[in-house]
Amino acid sequence: MSVIVWWLVMVVMVAVHSASAGVVELNWEVEYKLRWPDCKEGIVIAINGEFPGPTIDATAGDTVIVHVTNKLSTEGVVIHWHGIRQNGTPWADGAAGVTQCPINPGETFTYNFIVDKAGTHFYHGHYGMQRSAGLYGMMIVRSPKETLQYDGEFNLLLSDWWHQGSHAQELYLSSRPMRWIGEPQSLLINGRGQFNCSLAAYFNKGGVKECKFKDNDECAPTILRVEPLKVYRLRIASTTALASLNLAVEGHQLEVVEADGNYVAPFTVNDIDMYSGETYSVLLRTHNPTPSRKYWISVGVRGRKPNTTQALTVLHYADAPEYEHLPYPPPVTPRWDDYDRSKSFSKKIFAAKGYPPPPEKSDEQLFLLNTQNLMDKYTKWAINNVSLSVPATPYIGTIRYGLKTLNYQKPPGKEIVEDYDITKPPVNPNTTKGNGIYSFQLGRVVDVILQNSNVLNGRGSEIHPWHLHGHDFWVLGYGEGKFRLGVDEKTYNLNNPPLRNTVALYPYGWTALRFVTDNPGVWFFHCHIEPHLHMGMGVVFAEGVDQIAKMDIPNEVLGCGLTREFLMNRGRH
Ligand code: C2O
Ligand code: CU
Repeated sequence: MSVIVWWLVMVVMVAVHSASAGVVELNWEVEYKLRWPDCKEGIVIAINGEFPGPTIDATAGDTVIVHVTNKLSTEGVVIHWHGIRQNGTPWADGAAGVTQCPINPGETFTYNFIVDKAGTHFYHGHYGMQRSAGLYGMMIVRSPKETLQYDGEFNLLLSDWWHQGSHAQELYLSSRPMRWIGEPQSLLINGRGQFNCSLAAYFNKGGVKECKFKDNDECAPTILRVEPLKVYRLRIASTTALASLNLAVEGHQLEVVEADGNYVAPFTVNDIDMYSGETYSVLLRTHNPTPSRKYWISVGVRGRKPNTTQALTVLHYADAPEYEHLPYPPPVTPRWDDYDRSKSFSKKIFAAKGYPPPPEKSDEQLFLLNTQNLMDKYTKWAINNVSLSVPATPYIGTIRYGLKTLNYQKPPGKEIVEDYDITKPPVNPNTTKGNGIYSFQLGRVVDVILQNSNVLNGRGSEIHPWHLHGHDFWVLGYGEGKFRLGVDEKTYNLNNPPLRNTVALYPYGWTALRFVTDNPGVWFFHCHIEPHLHMGMGVVFAEGVDQIAKMDIPNEVLGCGLTREFLMNRGRH
């Protein structure tokens, strides 16, 4: 090919690329603010004064540039783009201690990455427990050629809220003995909930007072205003710190069409279960009620004994009376411990037609035993007996500069994979702290088997929604009890498993997933329950260590810990 032809090809390629791809550039100031998320005053982390943070609206292929200025004044901050795979930009993933140093008070850091795939996502703080403090917002990536058909859409960002601040919670969780933070005081829909009053008080004979919102009341619910006989897409994300949720719309069915940014084979349900870290799109078809009326949208707690009232908002048909009470009470949330119901929902989810099946065989199998432990009388969560403690020097920098301070984990031995009795409390509850890092070569097909077990007091096993950064994975299957190596693999769905980035591990069960190591970087894999992560429930996957060692990582992500000195010394040459 002559130089001229080559040059022409390049010009055309650049033109095609820039014709379709845009840039979304944002300036954000992250700051503590006084707000009334559930009608009671509280301190939230706001972005440009907004809580929840502004919704990012981009199109697949766009470059997203966010200049984040930390105005928290006494602590660092980072922002993680949950669901964005960060292909080629692992340093923009926003996980403190893993892919970057926290942004110092007063400083500005620029995230710059491409959103290569359409989907419903969100973003959130990923340093300490800043997500619990309200640092989150929606992130919508639109498809230039959307195949779903609908007339309108709404975003529903679900979260849970405590009256005790996140700093106190962090301290309680890491005290000896540990002090549990308890159930949330409220559930929030788009940052709005009602603690000291009830929207449904009309139906409560028990006496919770009725909410009276002034027009500008910060805890008044966002009403979903709809027209009859239309199709609406609800984009729902759960960024709860703890709660597993169930969402229902009175008198309407929901057609599930997307999960974690991937289309799923559509199925229709009366309500959906959601775990922290998951997103769904559902299509809601409106009827033609005469006379026009309002319906409840309710969100309640599942998977833990609830002590939190439902979050409510209203589906308001055009022309329905503005101030009248709703005619019926809100839908009742299914019983919290009906796990069979939760599992049957999970098992309805399959990839939409057109998604290629996963590779037929895996090259590696990694077994991850989830346990609750005691370390020196501190309560911890551990994976294969290692409770994660994220080091001061981000892993990505440690690997880039060959600092040799990481202790790579070996696949677990027989005592964990075969001998451990998950129905009993841990025989030896002791655990060690560690950097929990596993290394994978590029181009490998990896199966991860998450194994649940009994908690310390021997009275139960909890749900853990596991989230992987940098990837979508196939959910190959769920099972009860202990995974039987060489047997349970035969039950895997290799035909049309859904692609996701978050999956639930059910009590006393196992969950198997598969992914391909095609994204050089350092990727967090952890339970998305924030207190659990804080207590060590996570691991780190280093993918293509040799490639990371050659990466052109921006210096700004590495201004802390050992890499800081390294960069300073290098600067002198
Ligand atoms: Cu949404 Cu590492 O998390
Ligand atoms: Cu957990």
